[in-house]
Amino acid sequence: MHDDIKQIMFTKDEIDAMVHEIADKLNCEFKGEELIAVCILKGSIMFAADLIRSLTMNVKIDFMQASSYGSGTESSGVIKIKKDLDNDIAGKNVLIIEDIVDSGRTLKLLRREFEARGARTVRVAALLSKPSRCMVDVDVEYTGSEIPDEFVVGYGLDLDEKYRQLDYVGILKPEIYT
Ligand code: IMP
Ligand code: MG
Repeated sequence: MHDDIKQIMFTKDEIDAMVHEIADKLNCEFKGEELIAVCILKGSIMFAADLIRSLTMNVKIDFMQASSYGSGTESSGVIKIKKDLDNDIAGKNVLIIEDIVDSGRTLKLLRREFEARGARTVRVAALLSKPSRCMVDVDVEYTGSEIPDEFVVGYGLDLDEKYRQLDYVGILKPEIYT
């Protein structure tokens, strides 16, 4: 285990199980249809790569980067689209793939944006969510697991761009960011 990690929250195997459960449900819901899978950069890359490989319908992959965080662990509340989609999503089924829902602000903005662009359906798959931190009302159709209010890293999740490469999700030692 990495020195900066206090405790492992989800092992690689536990993450695999969550990913497959979400994929099974999506494979049912979108059987025979096409899906545009939107990976929200950068935190969801690992989750997106694993989830998409378990999907059985026709999938197009796209990317968007939105930023609401400075360099710390708190949301700034202001969200900027830093990289936009390549695909026109009007009339399409869109799956937003997000790493973690914290205040919910990022997702709320993305959902609203995709609906405004005329998507036929918008679904959200989030690996993790912190219900106790949720500040806005936003629908997340598929969640891997709810977690307590802890700052976690690994499997794509970062603190200042570090720890994304860990193959587990772990709780960071508080002294690392305080
Ligand atoms: P929200 O807009 O407040 O829901 O922020 C969601 C974004 O904040 C996620 O996509 C992550 O990039 C980041 N974030 C929230 N909580 C954590 C965490 O515990 N670890 C790493 N990143 C986090
Ligand atoms: Mg981040």
